[in-house]
Amino acid sequence: MNAPKIFETGVVDVEFGSNVRIVNPVNLYGCTIGADVFVGPFVEIQRDVKIGRGTKVQSHSFICELVEIGEDCFIGHGVMFINDLFSNGGPAGGDKAMWKETRIGNKVSIGSNATILPVTICDNVVIGAGSVVTKNILMPGIYAGNPATKIRET
Ligand SMILES: CC(C)(COP(=O)(O)OP(=O)(O)OC[C@H]1O[C@@H](n2cnc3c(N)ncnc32)[C@H](O)[C@@H]1OP(=O)(O)O)[C@@H](O)C(=O)NCCC(=O)NCCS
Repeated sequence: MNAPKIFETGVVDVEFGSNVRIVNPVNLYGCTIGADVFVGPFVEIQRDVKIGRGTKVQSHSFICELVEIGEDCFIGHGVMFINDLFSNGGPAGGDKAMWKETRIGNKVSIGSNATILPVTICDNVVIGAGSVVTKNILMPGIYAGNPATKIRET
């Protein structure tokens, strides 16, 4: 009988600010988590990600390499970030030169189940639940839909 190779989840090589709260199980590695951050269960935060002070990451969210999130943000449940656009017709695999970065400003709230492609989002933005953000958002406001568009001012 074949035995699978099983990798354990955990918190490995993470730099924490003060007063961080985490609800296990999570898989956090090689990232930097600022002071007063909350991370809910079933969250993965990958290498070199930075999460700013006071941000809350709710359960089941996936924050991949090349993502940076500012301060006092709210990342809802099941928010998915993307760094590989499959731009060559499929996954880039280990070719990180193909991956693209995402920058989220301060006081950005992202609704549950939103998907964030590699973009820049400025400060003071709300993203509706289930939205797919495909383009940079450079003006504050409330954005929703697939693709996400501005539906009103904050
Ligand atoms: C985007 C959001 C903030 C907008 O709230 P709002 O300003 O009160 O918007 P309204 O409910 O008045 O809706 C305005 C329009 O946008 C549409 N809309 C609202 N939310 C939407 C969403 N998430 N995706 C797509 N369209 C949306 C509405 O259908 C409505 O369309 P219409 O004008 O054609 O009727 C809110 O709907 C939302 O998605 N919040 C996320 C909450 C969340 O995920 N919380 C996580 C913790 S529980």
